[in-house]
Amino acid sequence: MRILTGIQPSGKLHWGNYFGAMKSMFDLQDRGENFMFIANFHAMTTVRDGKALREATREVALDYLACGLDPAKTIMYRQSDVPEVQELAWYLSCLTPMGLLERCHSYKDKMAHGFEATHGLFAYPVLMAADILIMNADLVPVGKDQKQHLEVTRDLAQKFNNAYGEIFKLPDAYIPETVATIPGTDGQKMSKSYHNTIELFDVSVKKKVMGIVTDSKTVDEPKEPETNSIFQLYKLFAEPEETIDMAARFRAGGYGYGDAKKALLAVYHRKFDPFRDRREALAKDPAALEDILRDGAERARRTAAPVMEKVRKAVGL
Ligand code: TRP
Repeated sequence: MRILTGIQPSGKLHWGNYFGAMKSMFDLQDRGENFMFIANFHAMTTVRDGKALREATREVALDYLACGLDPAKTIMYRQSDVPEVQELAWYLSCLTPMGLLERCHSYKDKMAHGFEATHGLFAYPVLMAADILIMNADLVPVGKDQKQHLEVTRDLAQKFNNAYGEIFKLPDAYIPETVATIPGTDGQKMSKSYHNTIELFDVSVKKKVMGIVTDSKTVDEPKEPETNSIFQLYKLFAEPEETIDMAARFRAGGYGYGDAKKALLAVYHRKFDPFRDRREALAKDPAALEDILRDGAERARRTAAPVMEKVRKAVGL
């Protein structure tokens, strides 16, 4: 089974990214042939600063390695190091109905957030389909917000196959339901566009956790754990017994949000302090990081080559 996922280097990675996408990728590392790429072409739809893009690309690679990506098990590469995806995106573009892209939520959402309506943003799902199809991926671990893009990918694969013969597999999205929505510091979904994120290696993590918005119940009042963000976040880091324990404390009363925030900080540090140490060590050796990315790119291009050969032949080139 071939498993592939990508992530945009468009800012620092946060808890939502970790539990929404990174962790499922690490959990799947032993289940098949794995690919993880840094979608720097995609990030150009919103990032227009070369230095910032280059830096963010490196940071994402460091974050993944620090948190558990094993280059012996997962091929990690920069999207731009496999330029063939642009070529495939064109072939797919030529059979992509405008209406299909017009219906995409992520595009409409970007427009609603005031982004400029560029062709790049509009065509984003076509490039994403190319990323996936060029590696012949079976399974694509993504956040819930990417579900529609996977449907577009399947649609385009089908259209291509109908026109040119059975070349592409239809990939499945892998969206673990338990981590469907991760609340941010204001209680809305954690997302960079809502400015409510807690970054993986945030220096002000304590301040952010202590600032998570809660209702105004007093310490003594019993509280419903399932509807409060602190408990939702705690659950992600804690062991099952710890989660049961915190739920009981909330329901019993006499347990305040301040106490719960401290408990949340403690489980965060327990998990992330070792990752932080590893990240610092990796960051000291930029040449080693570059080697990992170059090696990944080489293996990824080798995987893409036979697919592209078939595709070019089929389309008449
Ligand atoms: N659109 C994805 C996101 O923003 C990133 C991405 C680009 C991706 N290409 C992909 C994810 C291919 C999975 C497979 O999260």
